[in-house]
Amino acid sequence: MESKRISAAEMAVQKEYIQKIAEKMPKSRPLAFVETYGCQQNVSDSEKIKGMLSQMGYGFCERTEDADLVLYNTCAVRENAELRVFGNIGALKHQKRRKPELKIILCGCMMQQEHIAKAIRQKYPHVDLVFGTHALYRFPELLYQVMEEDARIFDVKNEDGSIFEEIDYHRDPKPLAKIPIMYGCNNFCTYCIVPYVRGRERSRDAEDILREVQEVADLGYREVMLLGQNVNSYGNDRKDGMDFATLLQKVCKVDGIERVRFMTSHPKDLSDALIDVMAEEEKICKQLHLPVQSGSNRILGLMNRKYTKEDYLHLVSKVKAKMPEIVLTTDIIVGFPGETDADFEETLQILKEVEYDTIFSFIYSKRVGTPAAEMPDVMDEEQKHRNFDRMLSVQNEISKRKNDAYVGTVQTVLAEGVSKNNPDTLTGRTEGGKVVNFAAPDSLIGEFVKVKITKSQTWSLFGEWIKER
Ligand code: 5AD
Ligand code: SF4
Repeated sequence: MESKRISAAEMAVQKEYIQKIAEKMPKSRPLAFVETYGCQQNVSDSEKIKGMLSQMGYGFCERTEDADLVLYNTCAVRENAELRVFGNIGALKHQKRRKPELKIILCGCMMQQEHIAKAIRQKYPHVDLVFGTHALYRFPELLYQVMEEDARIFDVKNEDGSIFEEIDYHRDPKPLAKIPIMYGCNNFCTYCIVPYVRGRERSRDAEDILREVQEVADLGYREVMLLGQNVNSYGNDRKDGMDFATLLQKVCKVDGIERVRFMTSHPKDLSDALIDVMAEEEKICKQLHLPVQSGSNRILGLMNRKYTKEDYLHLVSKVKAKMPEIVLTTDIIVGFPGETDADFEETLQILKEVEYDTIFSFIYSKRVGTPAAEMPDVMDEEQKHRNFDRMLSVQNEISKRKNDAYVGTVQTVLAEGVSKNNPDTLTGRTEGGKVVNFAAPDSLIGEFVKVKITKSQTWSLFGEWIKER
């Protein structure tokens, strides 16, 4: 399908709405509370939403109690994220009664599902505006309508395939910038809701991406994270012959950007050319998130993953041969419909064979409208939880052992900010993406520093800053 770039004229219309809202803003700056669920793509969408809000004249606050506008950017990948959103909007009912001018807004993947939009329409009358992922660029117009007409607005049509540029971000602070390079997914893994709520794959124009990378470099960002549900199929929908490996090479040429990361990679599309580019380009971090989902070929088939355990292990061995220092991470689903204990044992086997640095594991969550929702289940919830816990203890031991090997080494760390757990230390990441905590002055935030690793835990490393003379 041809992707549709929202025209400059249409974006100019939206900018006019931003202006109209700005003109009506009260003198005392109103505050917006924005909360984001789910993946980095959603975080990036929220940076665009905050960019629009800030141009309208909103400031930002950390608590809903202080807000004049509350917006939840939602995720539909698993049920627990959805339940949290329902809990949060339920809790806002009283606040809206006390402060009727409060605007309550829901957007993102969860809203793109018909049954959810319907439930909100019927059971949560205090929600003012609901819009799906495809309507994001129209947010100024929708908010203006809510304000002018004092009406409830729902814009959750399934209009596939738009890309919009020319929105100023309100980016998270330096040094890391998130840059979406494509939207949507064509893979239809049978458990996953993403293709239904984000539509088909569409890639941004390489020139737009490179312009954005240059922009963030000029602003002083040092690291970029290129985002897509499956970055390895970047360019498949374009006629200009660009592919992900070529795009990466171009991104690496941008002055000022010192580190380049990307996620997520589908194993079926990780090409030899990409592995070579990763190995050759110094700026590309030697870190790869390669979701395996299961170690059983029968379950991988039912999941429609289009690779076998053997294909996957072969891929990992190629990656490790070219980049022995690679930090590997993965996603795993426990309790997919039909998964038996024997299938689960095969997943544990993969963990032991690959020795990931970290895994992100999830208990299967049934998603309305996906093929897996109709598949028969054979395992009870209790057993799924027992397997899940067992998997974590196997992995924790591996993660700790991998981290132990860093003790005594000197790592180059990009200092990101003050550590949440200990205000006296900074936190940052190694090239492989490992979190390191170390005592050093705040003035080093945003800088590359050398840190000697002195202690390791399962999830993070600790070290001493080496002052360079
Ligand atoms: N249930 C549990 N986990 C899921 N994921 C995607 N859909 C589901 C689901 N229905 C996981 C996959 C994916 C990650 C982002 O979320 O492991 O890689
Ligand atoms: Fe979902 Fe599979 Fe697409 Fe990832 S590749 S977003 S798991 S359908």
